[in-house]
Amino acid sequence: MEDLQKLETDILKAITVLDNLAALEDLRVSEVGKKGRVSLLMRELGKMTPEEKKKFGPKLNGLKNTIIQAITDHKATLEAEELNRRLQSERVDITLPSPPENQGSIHPITQVMDEVTEIFTELGFSVAEGPEIEEDFYNFTALNIPPEHPARQMHDTFYFPENADGNRKLLRTHTSPVQIRTMMEGEPPYRIIVPGRTYRCDSDATHTPMFHQVESLVIDKDIHMGHLKWCIEEFCRKFFELDDVKIRFRPSYFPFTEPSAEVDIGCAFKDGEILIGEGDDWLEIMGCGMVNPRVLENVNLDPDVYQGFAFGMGLDRISMLKWGIPDLRDFFAADMRWLKHYGFAALDIPSLSTQNNNPGGRSQSNRGGSSSPTGDRPPINNNAGGK
Ligand code: DAH
Repeated sequence: MEDLQKLETDILKAITVLDNLAALEDLRVSEVGKKGRVSLLMRELGKMTPEEKKKFGPKLNGLKNTIIQAITDHKATLEAEELNRRLQSERVDITLPSPPENQGSIHPITQVMDEVTEIFTELGFSVAEGPEIEEDFYNFTALNIPPEHPARQMHDTFYFPENADGNRKLLRTHTSPVQIRTMMEGEPPYRIIVPGRTYRCDSDATHTPMFHQVESLVIDKDIHMGHLKWCIEEFCRKFFELDDVKIRFRPSYFPFTEPSAEVDIGCAFKDGEILIGEGDDWLEIMGCGMVNPRVLENVNLDPDVYQGFAFGMGLDRISMLKWGIPDLRDFFAADMRWLKHYGFAALDIPSLSTQNNNPGGRSQSNRGGSSSPTGDRPPINNNAGGK
């Protein structure tokens, strides 16, 4: 049996001088691999007398372990060095201006969220948020949609696997659960809007599995449907930049509101375009109603003292309408050409501010055929939400 101590010293020295991972791997194979030097020595053990085995067995094992450990350590060092080298060579100076072909822009959804937020905060609303991974209780049960309710089927819910307690979390199917969270957290009055992402298992030209909504909830001691109607009209006037916007409330059904209505906005379908505020056609833009007393009871509010209204609106849909964007799926395709066409410059301000601060400023809305966000480019194919 060779001088194991010398062998160990030699191998350890050989390891430390290696400066790349491939060479280190070669060394590992040639020393402790199946047919490696140390492995072959270990095979010799079989031919030894019991005494020799006792002597050399632990030594050889120790040698093998020491070498494997040294290789592992050196590998970690080489990997860290390699990573540092890459970080240095691929360093990006984020203070440099980006080249024009890579310049991004504000996504229309972000822009619409900013505009909606600005309009409602001016009216005295505050912005509330909630989790996108939601509990069944907030998304359904507390909103007066118990387990056997048929409305659950209409939501095409993405469920997570069952927990140990038998409950399943889900991706929220609407922003309405934030109504419940808000009412359970603080004291009335509430006057909130909730812009955010929502999810349903659905995909075609007008549905994507992830989409955006804005929810609103107002609760106080003297709220009636007139308040709801005024708020929605005011919002539409500001958002679509029209003084004489036509709005229609159509009776509808939602488990969490009673009475419930769907809101349509007056429009014209002309040459494949939708013109808001003109003509005799109607387009649905949101659901709304007076908060169902059962929902108030579910959050321990006395319906004889408090009442209020709520509404929920698809942000993607109103973006399509405002700027004449024909296909919803393009919103999420991350196509730079689309973003360049429909995106907004980083410092573009919501339309409300544009009106206030820049009286001669461009109109952003989809009226009279000016359907691109900047108002100076022709529409691609303006049949948003077509009938
Ligand atoms: N949550 C409903 C949906 O996603 C929309 C909605 C309708 C919200 C009526 C409301 C409401 O707050 O009052 O279809």
